[in-house]
Formats: sequence, structure tokens, C-alpha cells
Amino acid sequence: MQPNQPHTVLITGSTSGIGLAIAHCFARAGHHVMLHGLTDADTSQALLAEFSGYSGRTGFSDADISSEAGCAQLVSETREAIGNPSVLINNAGIQFTAPAHDFPAEKWHQILAINLSAGFFLARDVLPAMRSANWGRIINIASVHGLVASENKAAYCAAKHGLVGLTKVLALENADCNVTANAICPGWVETPLIQPQIEAIAREQQLDMDTARAQLVGAKQPVAKATSPEAIGELALYLCGNFASTITGASLPVDGGWTAQ
Ligand SMILES: NC(=O)c1ccc[n+]([C@@H]2O[C@H](COP(=O)([O-])OP(=O)(O)OC[C@H]3O[C@@H](n4cnc5c(N)ncnc54)[C@H](O)[C@@H]3O)[C@@H](O)[C@H]2O)c1
Repeated sequence: MQPNQPHTVLITGSTSGIGLAIAHCFARAGHHVMLHGLTDADTSQALLAEFSGYSGRTGFSDADISSEAGCAQLVSETREAIGNPSVLINNAGIQFTAPAHDFPAEKWHQILAINLSAGFFLARDVLPAMRSANWGRIINIASVHGLVASENKAAYCAAKHGLVGLTKVLALENADCNVTANAICPGWVETPLIQPQIEAIAREQQLDMDTARAQLVGAKQPVAKATSPEAIGELALYLCGNFASTITGASLPVDGGWTAQ
């Protein structure tokens, strides 16, 4: 890969929240981006229109990556739309909270499939081309819950700890060919994913949404402020830059001090 050559960037779950902010960061910097997520045709058309102002190519896929076949479909649609991905950002994820003794099996399997297995299948499918090109970046959007636990999040914590472990293995296996693998571990980020948790606090304690949000964030983070999705995008972009070539196998908390305690 020549310096300053645009990357071809596949960002899973980029129709919303953190993934969408990452996609804007890369597109703004001149890279080709593959948008992806479960959304209707109107929303995907609107997103493609929104990205048409950038200089790079943009594609979109609504492949459901909860299965190995869905992951294969996403890689094939990415190759068609923007070329072999030189950067894979495993970002798509879901949440469901309940105590382990009451956790529905269906939710366990779904969270493991989307938050962990998809990251493995996608990495496995794109790595051969990265290795041949002698350059690549894999960035897994894990969570503080890849480093520490919280109650009621058995599946989410298991999946995110797994993703951090997977990241380290990928870093070791591909250290010979300029392919790095890193995990970003955010604390609270203001996106639709955390809305149900804010609403539950507001409902249970009869609080307005702003107070409930402050309570949720402040309960875990010394810096009682949610991170912006754009901050995660900028860090992902940095990990693809020239100064980041020796950062690999790392799990980088962006968590207002949550995991420093
Ligand atoms: N929001 C936070 O506070 C926070 C904190 C730490 C980590 N994260 C992680 O960041 C990532 C993004 O979270 P977010 O808050 O932006 O969520 P979000 O709900 O805003 O977006 C999730 C994206 O994943 C896609 N997706 C979900 N299931 C899918 C499936 N089966 N197939 C294809 N796409 C699917 C959705 O369509 C959407 O584009 C997740 O992995 C999440 O665990 C979020």
C-alpha cells in the first residue's frame, strides 16, 4: 500500500450510531466506504445520497451477518461495490440485558453470532487478500465490557471479551505482513443502542431522560460524559494511519476512566 492511497473500508453496522460516524470520518478523509446494516430501502438510498458528496466510492449492503452465509454475502457485495477491503471494521452489535439465570437462549445465540462470530467470519474471509497485498487493518469495536463486567450483560460481556481475545490472535498471526488488528473499547457512547437502558432508568425512577442519561453514565464513568461517536471514528482513522503501524493486538479504552478504577 502506497502512503496516501485511499483505503477500501468495510464498516459493519454503519447505518447508525458509531458505525455511521466512522463511515463519515473515513469518507471525509477520501477513502472508499462500504456502508452496511439492517435498514429499509428509503434509509439506504438516503444514506447513499448523503455520501455521494464525498470523493471516494460508496456501496451499501443489508446482509444479515448473524450467519456465516450472511457474512460471506457482505464480503462479496463489498468486493463488487468498492473492491477488496483493505480495512475491516467490525462494529455491528446488539444488546440485551437480563440476569444470567433468566437470559433467553435465543438472545444469547443472537448476541454471540452478531457481536463475536461475525467478526471472526469476516476477518477470515478478508485476510487472504490483505495478506497478499502486504497491508491491512482490522479494527474491532469491542467495549469496556470486553475488559470488565457489568451485571445483566452475560452474553454481551462474553461476546466482547471474546472479541478482545480474537483481536490478539489476529494481531499475532498477521504481524508478518503489515496487517494490524486492534480493539477499541468504548464506555458509554450516545447512540440508539443505549436508549433502552436510559428509558428503563427514567421509567423505574420516574426521571426525565436527561437526568436518567446522566445517572447511567455517571454510575460507571469518573468522566460523567458520554463519548461522541465521532471520537471513535477519529481513533479508527488514526489506527489506519502511518504512525499506527506498530499498534497491534491492543485493546484501547475510550471510557472516561471506567476501567482505570
Ligand atoms: N453505544 C455505546 O455506548 C457502546 C459502547 C461500547 C461499545 N459499543 C459497541 O459499538 C458498536 C456499535 O454500537 P452503536 O451504539 O452504534 O449501535 P446502533 O444500534 O446505533 O447500531 C448498530 C448497527 O448494527 C447493525 N446490525 C445489528 N444487527 C445486525 C445484523 N444481524 N446484521 C447486520 N447488521 C446488524 C444495525 O443495523 C446498526 O447499523 C456495537 O458493537 C456496540 O456493542 C457501543
